[in-house]
Amino acid sequence: MQQKPSMGAAAFCMTDTTNKQAPQQPVLTRAAFGDDFQWGVATAAYQIEGAHTAEGKGPSIWDTFASRKGKVKHSHTGNQACDFFHRYSDDLLLMKAMGIQNFRFSLSWSRLLPDGTGKINQAGIAYYNRLIDQCLELGITPWITLYHWDLPQALEIKGGWTNRDIVGWFGAYATLCANSFGDRVKHWMVLNEPMVFTGAGYFLGVHAPGRRGFGSFIPAVHHTALCQAEGGRILKQLVPDAQVGTTFSCSHVEPLREQENDIRAAKRVDALLNRLFLEPALGLGYPLEELKFMRRIEKHMKPGDEELLRFDFDFIGIQNYTREVVRYAFWTPFIQANLVPAKKRNVPYTHMNWEVYPEGIYHLLHKYSGYSTIRKLIITENGAAFPDELRDGQVNDQQRVDFLQLYLQQVLRARQEGANVEGYFVWSFLDNFEWTEGYEPRFGLVHVDYSTQQRTVKSSGHWYRDFLRGHNL
Ligand code: GAL
Repeated sequence: MQQKPSMGAAAFCMTDTTNKQAPQQPVLTRAAFGDDFQWGVATAAYQIEGAHTAEGKGPSIWDTFASRKGKVKHSHTGNQACDFFHRYSDDLLLMKAMGIQNFRFSLSWSRLLPDGTGKINQAGIAYYNRLIDQCLELGITPWITLYHWDLPQALEIKGGWTNRDIVGWFGAYATLCANSFGDRVKHWMVLNEPMVFTGAGYFLGVHAPGRRGFGSFIPAVHHTALCQAEGGRILKQLVPDAQVGTTFSCSHVEPLREQENDIRAAKRVDALLNRLFLEPALGLGYPLEELKFMRRIEKHMKPGDEELLRFDFDFIGIQNYTREVVRYAFWTPFIQANLVPAKKRNVPYTHMNWEVYPEGIYHLLHKYSGYSTIRKLIITENGAAFPDELRDGQVNDQQRVDFLQLYLQQVLRARQEGANVEGYFVWSFLDNFEWTEGYEPRFGLVHVDYSTQQRTVKSSGHWYRDFLRGHNL
């Protein structure tokens, strides 16, 4: 199961990441990616907006979960976050000054529909209208994610993702969003990382809503996969000229040893992390051959569901941070596999304890390009947390610059070899609320001082601006 591991202290060391036998890397310039390649930054509503009760917003499962003792480190919550709800205008101006032309953000379902269904909160619609309109005035293209993990609490009380009625609730929400914003927004993503929010939220119980076990997980998976396709159909029908995608957390998976039981364990983990939600959308069904323990999902399938799980997305969003190395584990229930942490393998890792492994994104791009029915790939998230410090008004985050360059080099290499990748979004524009890790991990190109809400562009932000301007770096 993928979850957000706790933070590690080590920083990564550049010299460790370069394989001496690695092929010559292509020269990293914006021009090398071609004129049509889309560059941007990504965020999510709960992680940046704050204003958790402002102007009629209803509570989401993350409001509830974060307010419970011991769920988030240091009892942090997203109540204020980056206060983007009030500061979006200045933040967009900063984005513009950094030369960023594409902005991925999510809509807060409970800001638009405080009870999840029924009564519309007009103030919520007005807020997103202001945000979208300013983006367009500044020449920044909005890319909207419908759902980035913040289910209205009112729906969780009715069973949330475990209740099949969610297909109707989600459909009504998608319809409202498409009808309200589709005249101006032409890039949409249905879900953010379904494997993470169902796995961490409904199986492990470490994310909102904090439910555990197969009894919750299996129906949540099926209903999420149905909503993924249903959302796609609704967006495409109501906004026919839109590019409609959805996003997946993906990690290149390798066996620890070239031994049969590790190799098979790695295949199971790969099916769970990288294929479970994608393949039903492509019409291939759930990968139950590798995930035998998930066969009980068939009990939740109704006649016609296989067809309802399908949707021909215009693009697939790839979100990659690390690689997973897997060993066979007899005692680990169901999956019989364990992830071997980066720390134990003596490899470089970030502030999240995630291995820095740029070649992973290269392998993933080729892997997903291998599905003939995927039209195109967009990297909708890639980035890293490091223990940044603000000193004399500056944040020198050379590690993040190195990280981004190394990963981008691998993206370019895959693209030049024919992988159909056509865009790249850095996670994230601002430091923000990193779920159960609270505010400690900093992922932003822009530093946020949470006591003053002061923004400071980090070295990585300056680097990205120069890269986008096409300066020779
Ligand atoms: C992704 C998620 C983001 C952000 C990022 C860094 O899985 O979509 O919300 O948390 O990871 O951990």
